[in-house]
Amino acid sequence: MADRVLILGASGFIGSYLRESLGQVKQRVLTGTYHSHETPGLVPLNVLDVHAMRELIGESQPQFVVFLAGTKDVERCEKMPAYALDLNVQAVRNYVEACLSLKVRPVTLFFSTDYVFDGFDGHYSRSSCVGPRTVYGLTNLLAERILGRSNLPGVILRVSAVMGRRGGFFRWLETSLIAEESISLFDNTYFSPTSVGRLCRFVENCAAGSGGLGLDAGMRIVHLSDAYRLTRYQFGCAVAGKLGKPLTLLQPSLADLSTTTFQSDLSLLPDGVKAFRPSHQWDELGEIF
Ligand SMILES: NC(=O)c1ccc[n+]([C@@H]2O[C@H](COP(=O)([O-])OP(=O)(O)OC[C@H]3O[C@@H](n4cnc5c(N)ncnc54)[C@H](OP(=O)(O)O)[C@@H]3O)[C@@H](O)[C@H]2O)c1
Repeated sequence: MADRVLILGASGFIGSYLRESLGQVKQRVLTGTYHSHETPGLVPLNVLDVHAMRELIGESQPQFVVFLAGTKDVERCEKMPAYALDLNVQAVRNYVEACLSLKVRPVTLFFSTDYVFDGFDGHYSRSSCVGPRTVYGLTNLLAERILGRSNLPGVILRVSAVMGRRGGFFRWLETSLIAEESISLFDNTYFSPTSVGRLCRFVENCAAGSGGLGLDAGMRIVHLSDAYRLTRYQFGCAVAGKLGKPLTLLQPSLADLSTTTFQSDLSLLPDGVKAFRPSHQWDELGEIF
C-alpha cells in the first residue's frame, strides 16, 4: 500500500472527493496541492513551475501520485490553445522531468478523458481508435503520449463525466429540480456518467496496489464509467426520478453540433464491459447524492 500519496490539483472537484477517501487510511501521509483556490491543509503549486514541482516531489517523496491539475474547460481550450497546451501538456512534461531528475518513479494515476475520441459513434473501448476533435481532447492525448513514453509506472485513466454533488452540472440540475424550475437538456449528445463513489473506490484500489492493475509495469490505459449510455436529458430524467420530481420539469432540446464543441456520442465502455446496461438498472446513481 502507498503510505505517501501526492494529489496534484487536490483543490478541484475530483480532488475534493479523493482527499476525503484517500485520507481515510490513518497511516497514510497525504499531500495535496492548490493553485488559485487556497484551501486549508493543501500546499500551493503552479504546475508550470518545474523547479517548484521538483521541490515538492523531492520533499514529499510520494509513492503514489494522482495527477488532476489541469484545465477541463473545453470551450476555453478551443479558444486559447496555448493555455490548453500549457496546462494539460507542459504541466505533465514538467512532472515527468521532475521525476526523472530526482530519479524517482512514483506510481502515477493520470486523469485523461473520453474527449480523446472523435465523439461520432461512441461505445469507445480501450481498443477503439483515438481521434480528438477538440483542443481539450488533443492536449489530453498528448499528455497520455508523454506519460506513456516516460517509463513511469501507473495508469492513464480515461474517465467519462464524473458526477458528484460538488460538480457544477449536477449541482445545477439537482438545485433546479428541487426548486421545481423547468429546465432544458440536450437530447442529442450521448455520454457515460461516472459516479464519484465508483471513481473513489477505483483510485483507492490503485493506491492500495490491488485490483490486478500490474502497476509496476509502465503506464497502462484504463477506461472507467458506470457503463450507461445516456443523453443529458435522459440523465436528467433519472435524477428527477430519484428525487421524486415530475419529468415534465425537463424539456429535451438539441445542441448545435456543427458550431459547438458538443460531441454527438462520447459514451465510454469501462474495461471488461462489452455493452451498455439499460438505464433503469442504474444503482450507482444513489452514490452521486
Ligand atoms: N470532472 C470530470 O468529469 C473529468 C472527466 C475526465 C477527465 N477529467 C480531468 O481530471 C482533471 C481534474 O478534473 P476536475 O473536475 O477535478 O477539475 P477542476 O475542478 O477544474 O480542478 C482542476 C485542478 O487543477 C488545479 N490547477 C489549475 N491550474 C493549475 C496550475 N497552473 N498549477 C497547479 N494546479 C492547477 C486547480 O487548482 P485551483 O482550483 O486551486 O486553481 C484544481 O485543483 C482535469 O484535468 C480534467 O481534464 C475530469
